[in-house]
Order: sequence, then C-alpha cells, then structure tokens
Amino acid sequence: MTKTSTYLFLLGILFAFSSIAQDYPNDYLSPAFHADRRAAVKKQLSDKGVGIFFAGQTRQRSNDTEFQFAQNKNFYYLTGLNEPNAVLLLFKQPVSLLGKTGTEFIFVQNRDPFKELWTGKILGVDGYRAQSNMENIFINDQFKASILPMASIDSVFSLFRTEGIINKYKAKEDALTRMASTVDSLLSSSNKPVASRSTLAIMRNLRGIKTAEEITLIKKAATISTLGHNDVMRAIKPGMKEFQAQAIMEYHFKTNGSEYPGYASINGAAENACVLHYVTNLKTVKNGDLLLSDCAAEYHGYTADVTRTVPANGKFSDAQKTLYEIVLAAQDAGIAASQAGAPMANVDAAARAVVNAGLIKLGIAKNDMEARTYFPHGTSHHLGLDVHDLGPRTLQAGVVITVEPGIYIPAGSKCDKKWWNIGIRIEDDILITEKGPENISAGSPRTVADIEKMAKQKGIF
Ligand code: GLY
Ligand code: MN
Ligand code: MN
Repeated sequence: MTKTSTYLFLLGILFAFSSIAQDYPNDYLSPAFHADRRAAVKKQLSDKGVGIFFAGQTRQRSNDTEFQFAQNKNFYYLTGLNEPNAVLLLFKQPVSLLGKTGTEFIFVQNRDPFKELWTGKILGVDGYRAQSNMENIFINDQFKASILPMASIDSVFSLFRTEGIINKYKAKEDALTRMASTVDSLLSSSNKPVASRSTLAIMRNLRGIKTAEEITLIKKAATISTLGHNDVMRAIKPGMKEFQAQAIMEYHFKTNGSEYPGYASINGAAENACVLHYVTNLKTVKNGDLLLSDCAAEYHGYTADVTRTVPANGKFSDAQKTLYEIVLAAQDAGIAASQAGAPMANVDAAARAVVNAGLIKLGIAKNDMEARTYFPHGTSHHLGLDVHDLGPRTLQAGVVITVEPGIYIPAGSKCDKKWWNIGIRIEDDILITEKGPENISAGSPRTVADIEKMAKQKGIF
C-alpha cells in the first residue's frame, strides 16, 4: 500500500464512520434534482414568460402561536428550500435583474439573530447557496416591482394570481404578502398588459411522473406507514381508544424519521368507520367493532396514504368478512387495472364493478346507483408531495396512485340491520411500472387470514 492509498483508505474509514454517526438526515432530494426540475419548467415557459413560485407561509394557530411550518409543495419541488418568505422567478431565456444575468432568481429570508434566537437558523443567501445549485440568490428585501425586467416579460405563469396571500393579518410586515402584492399589481398594470397564465398544467405533468429519487422517498414513507398499521393490528383489543391507535401509528412514523403524518390521522371504529375523513378519534373501540385506520407518514416532503380495516377482537364476524372480501376483490381488480397506458378512470371502473356486483348480489343495493351510496368516493388519486397529488389522467411508468375502494353502511341504511355500522376501506399505494403495478405498501397484510394472523402476534405496546 502506498502512502497515498493509505491516506485514502483512512479517509474512507473516517468518511464511513462519520456517515454512521450522522447527526441529521442526509437523504433529501439532491440539488441536481431541483435544478433539473427547474430546467423542465423553464423549457415550458413562453419566450417572454416568467414563472413565479411563492414559498408557503407560517399560519397563525391562536394568539401568538403558529402551526408548524409546511412548505408550499411546488416551491419545495423546485428549490428544496424549507423556509417561508421566499419567491422564485424562472425565465426561459436569460434576463438581467439586479446586475445578474440568468434564467433563475430566488429571493430568500435574510439572516436575523433575533428571529433565530427564537425559532432557529435561517439559511440566508450564503446558507442557501451552500445547499443548492440556484443561479442567482438575493434577500427578499430586494424584491420590488422596479427590479423586474419588464421589457422581457409579457406573461406571468403562476398557480393563481394571489397565491401566497393567505394571512391577511400579517399583510403589513410579511415579506411574502408584500411580494405577492407586487406580482398582483404587475398583473393589474394597465400601462403594460401582462397575460396571466397558469402553471397548473406544467406542474401536473412534471410532479405526476416521479423520478427515481422521489420514488425512493415515497417508498420510505410507505414502509414507515405499514409499520404503524401492523402494530395497530397487533395491539388492538376491545377497550382500546381510537386515539391510542392513532398514537401507535404516529409513534412509528416519528420514530422512523417522518416529519409528520401526511394528513390528519383517521381512526374510526364502527359508526365512525362510515365517516370518510373522521379525525376526532375519541371513541372506545368495542368488541365486535371494525376499526378503520387511514394513516400515513410523510418523509422529506413525500407522503404515503394507507388504510387498513381490522376487527377489534382479532376476528372478523361473518357479515364483516363477507363485505371485506368484496372490498378486497375490488382492490385487487383496481390494482390489476393500474397499467401504463391505461386511463386512470379504468382503475375506478374495475373496482366499482366488483363492489356494485357484490352489493347487488347480497341485496344491499338494487342497482349501481344505489350501490354508489355505499361507495361514495373515487378509487384513486395521485400520490407524492401532496396526499392528493398532481398527475396526468393517463397512467404511465413513474406515476404513483392509491387504490382504495370501500363500503360504508351507516345505521339506518335501507338494508338488513346486520350490515349496519360496518365501514371498510382498504388502501394501498401503487407505483406504475412498465412491468405492471407495484404495491409499495404491501408490507402490511390485507387478507382476512393474514390480518387475523397478525392480530395474534405480540406488538410493542
Ligand atoms: N387519506 C385521504 C385519502 O385516502 O384520500
Ligand atoms: Mn387516498
Ligand atoms: Mn387515505
């Protein structure tokens, strides 16, 4: 071994060791990912168009407390910056702005020792430069109408005209609101009419087809989510509270590095399982109830969306099992229809046909229209940065969707009482590939036999 190779070897060990001892996660989307996504947006702008993307805002919860900050997802997709009070401008062709020439300009929060004392480090220009490939970075105080290269702008691409103006109470001092107002007045200007165009179609097509980096993060979110579902299956027993099921879920999410649930956790037993987005989670789960848990983790911006329905006492009753098997068969049909090149509507049609036929055969519904009252929601939506994500109507490789049929029969429904208060949904996350659908939340059992088997296992609670 030469001196240099010994040195390199030792350096390698040091690097390996330091990455094991990593203090913070380092598996975020790469700067190259965000730069590539900006390039894809820039390509789709008109020659004299400017794309404007605002950061999210901190929202007041009550008095002087705020909700935890959540970044605007389009902004995150294009920048990787997780701070409020920022705006991104993209151009197709280079323009000059504040003495710099280029196609991308971001305005970020300035460092502020007082704010940082209370809520932590602000990246500022240098900090954001160190974590991104952004061409031009300024502080947000520099964003004024007068700096915009009006000779090079004839249209503004934004999600909607006043995107970002949400917290009217902060209108005076909030930098985001001020920047959004600047853009708004630009659009209203009668001196120089500027066309207002939507970024929705551009973002739908980009965000809808996931890159390898995004798929890694969604898979991680899905895997973490299934850990929570599995432990609820193991822990459930009559007398448990709905919020205890929620606590088990969220324990697993958080302890595995998920920043927060991707949406408010839904844990409803019996009649509450028939409320599609029930988030009160206060009831005691009783013997004979089914518990429906629609809960999933968000990991580095990407969320899963998983639902399992499990019997409180570990065993499905005959009526519960009969309906569960219909929903499961419907989900299998929906997953089988999740093929590249197929319209997304095929997934709903395939699943709904199974539910309709099942309910009609049991005499619960007379026809398809009546069956819809017991399965009143769609079967699929796109999944990614948002739980109800943007995406194309035709499936293709790289698209991620949910397949989530259900049957909900609240008390008082026009059918035999034995079906009342049964609410069932089974929801999995499906990656479309050229080779067919891949169920990325398959780590949690779906069949009656497998759920009953898992219910016999010992959980960590
Ligand atoms: N968790 C919301 C949904 O399933 O769409
Ligand atoms: Mn869903
Ligand atoms: Mn869901």
